Amino acid sequence: MAVDPFANSDAEPPSAPPPAAVAVTRAAGQRHLFAHWDRLDTTARRRLLGQLAAIDWPLVGALTGRVRDGALALPAAESAFDLKTAITPPCRRLHGADRADGRAVGDRGREALAAGAVGAILVAGGQGTRLGCTGPKGLCAVGPLSGATLFEVLLGRLVAIRRRYGRGVPLAIMTSSATDAETRHYLETHAWCGLEPDQVLLFRQQDLPAFDAASADILLDAPDHVALAPDGHGGMLSALAAIGGLDWFRRRGVAHVASFQVDNPLAMPLDPGFLGEHLRADAEFTLQVVRKREPGEKVGVVATSGGVTQVVEYSDLPTDAAAARLPDGTLRLHAGSIAVHAFALDFLARCAGRADALPLHAARKVVACLDAEGLRFTPVSPNAVKFERFIFDLLPLATRVCLVEIDPAEGFAPLKNPSGSTADSPEHVRAALLARARVLLAEAGVAVADGVAVELDAATVLDAEDIAAVVPRGQLIDTPTVVVGPSRHTAGARHTQGGE
Ligand code: UD1
Repeated sequence: MAVDPFANSDAEPPSAPPPAAVAVTRAAGQRHLFAHWDRLDTTARRRLLGQLAAIDWPLVGALTGRVRDGALALPAAESAFDLKTAITPPCRRLHGADRADGRAVGDRGREALAAGAVGAILVAGGQGTRLGCTGPKGLCAVGPLSGATLFEVLLGRLVAIRRRYGRGVPLAIMTSSATDAETRHYLETHAWCGLEPDQVLLFRQQDLPAFDAASADILLDAPDHVALAPDGHGGMLSALAAIGGLDWFRRRGVAHVASFQVDNPLAMPLDPGFLGEHLRADAEFTLQVVRKREPGEKVGVVATSGGVTQVVEYSDLPTDAAAARLPDGTLRLHAGSIAVHAFALDFLARCAGRADALPLHAARKVVACLDAEGLRFTPVSPNAVKFERFIFDLLPLATRVCLVEIDPAEGFAPLKNPSGSTADSPEHVRAALLARARVLLAEAGVAVADGVAVELDAATVLDAEDIAAVVPRGQLIDTPTVVVGPSRHTAGARHTQGGE
């Protein structure tokens, strides 16, 4: 039986670091991890050994080499992709004049939902660094009147879908060490936001250590603690496969999975038109995109060149390529990925079986660490290298890819930045939710007085049809209102005044 070099569960941790643990970490190029051992008490020694035991040392060895050699950029893929000549691939438009076949495509999506063939993955493992939040982003309140959290809005929409189609959408939620405990507690104490608990699978992505950019040493952020960070939203593939999540979906009859991010309360991963386009194209990977308004917008772009289609992350997109325009003035690379995807489940399973499916991207970041005296400090400029996998790197592995352009007013209002920021702030998100509500209310023939805030309850209002079931056509709403649609759980239809 293999011996765990970090094993130490019952016995008193030895006075010297376990030699086998020292050997494993040194073999990975890490010689300093036990530097503070002598001043650690028993609990601290256990904590350190426990943390080290969970680290993938062969992988760390390879990453240490990359940092030490300065080989942070990924080796150029052996493909004909060339960013200088890359163009935006053709996009299907979800709505608009060119969509005469919209109803038929939407019907395909509706049939799949009614058949229970669609599942969803919500990625909620990020640390919300830019937003400056301490807990999981999903707990941030975004409901303009109700104060509903991102989880309540996003999971609520799945509740509304279950009522509409008579079938639930199995949902896997990815957390990380940074968000797992609070997310579980929140969902358990908030009745799973209305979902059936057995239709929700919480799974945790892996952590990877942060490396000192200069020395390639793994950073300690306390004498008994390695600085760890989630391995990027691409971690969803291996983490889901590792806990049997792909089979969990399959057992529930799911053949296609839509993924979305916790920071976008307008996200419509289960829009029938989007799913319909994915099915009609018989695609393995379908992406929702928005037309970039300006070159500096922080969204990855979908680009195609030499027969290869891929997402180029905004941080990897050179300014000249971002700003390049076509003769008609539109941006050459204008398809901004909003990280709402649909995958064929078989495609995910095929990719999960490939160790090389998702490379690790490196990024320089500020990471709190110990100074020479062993005291924790936060550097002012990037001192660390972090590694992350991006799920959209699966794109070149897909045999058929489909792009669906949506109107951002309908499906993209991400919460990225703190209050007062010029974009993607809580104020922008609330305004987008209110504006979307006004459009749907207008579609249902309901007017809203100028300056009056009207919110739609996500768990009961999917679209104008649900509004029409509770608010008479021609009505004017002139006080702040949360419109609650038809619901199995409420006695009859109602709409509440005053932001209940
Ligand atoms: C992301 C996309 C970008 C896209 C934009 C749209 C990446 C690398 N880029 O950028 O192409 O245009 O969203 O809004 O994702 N997350 C995890 N685990 C992690 C890291 C992130 O679950 O280890 C989740 C977060 O909880 C969040 C989402 O992924 O829901 C996005 O993360 P974030 O780091 O904010 O991505 P962006 O830089 O905004």
